[in-house]
Amino acid sequence: MNKPVRKAVFPAAGLGTRFLPATKVIPKEMLALVDKPIIQYGVEEAIASGIEDIIFVTGRGKGAMEDHFDRSPELDAMLERRGKQELLAVSRGVAAMARILSVRQQEPLGLGHAVLCAKDLVGDEPFAVILPDDVIDAQPPCLKQMIGVFEEKGGSVLATMTIEGPGISAYGVLAGSQDRDNPRIYNCTGMVEKPKLEEAPSTQAIIGRYVLTPRVFELLEQTKPGAGGEIQLTDGVKALLKEEKVFGYTFEGKRYDAGDKFGMLQATVEFALKRPEFGEKFRAYLKELAP
Ligand code: G1P
Repeated sequence: MNKPVRKAVFPAAGLGTRFLPATKVIPKEMLALVDKPIIQYGVEEAIASGIEDIIFVTGRGKGAMEDHFDRSPELDAMLERRGKQELLAVSRGVAAMARILSVRQQEPLGLGHAVLCAKDLVGDEPFAVILPDDVIDAQPPCLKQMIGVFEEKGGSVLATMTIEGPGISAYGVLAGSQDRDNPRIYNCTGMVEKPKLEEAPSTQAIIGRYVLTPRVFELLEQTKPGAGGEIQLTDGVKALLKEEKVFGYTFEGKRYDAGDKFGMLQATVEFALKRPEFGEKFRAYLKELAP
């Protein structure tokens, strides 16, 4: 019987260069998707998946993320004075959402290294990793689906989606065979970080959600720099695969790359269209632009 998955690690130390100049001062995780910073979507997904502790792996200049999930006494007092009860509930709700812990990644040595920075805060239990750039609209939440697979199969689980063509080279790519009982599950036999199209072992791209056993920390400690000269999480999980079962899982839902300008625009339009307060008005506006 596996221990329950109670903690989620959010690697968030990156400089967000894909989004310059917006990210010169503001952490990319704090850019708003409609009216919430993108990291809040990941935190809400984690909480809705049963996670109790949120672990941010941060870096210099990233303090706004912790402040966002803390209480804001001046703002709350002002909202109270003005009788803005609904907004007060929003502000307090964010602060009460989760227990936030954080650790700093002092050097940008790669995603695998960022996850390793959380080793002491996670301890000896299975944990989730959420890459906040990957915003996933799914019901049940993507991580909840994956924890279900982890509990059923008893091995680490990586989220995947099918990507045909050269776009696959931006991802870690899974090798493996589809499970006979559940076509969404892949029995993983290998993985390659950012392969050339002709070297990609499949069309299953790894997306930023992982449920991992703690053994991966020891393996990451031994992982040498790989693709791009960085310590890759993919390489740590590949080492894990020699000792334990690892599964790919094609989640049900839609993923947006909110760390990319175009991906953020797509997410903005689709999330805005779903908002009851102004979705219809926004749809009419879009039709007016492109009849
Ligand atoms: C990271 C991982 C990669 C994964 C991707 C998903 O890459 O290294 O394996 O496919 O996230 O978003 P990055 O996007 O940080 O270069």
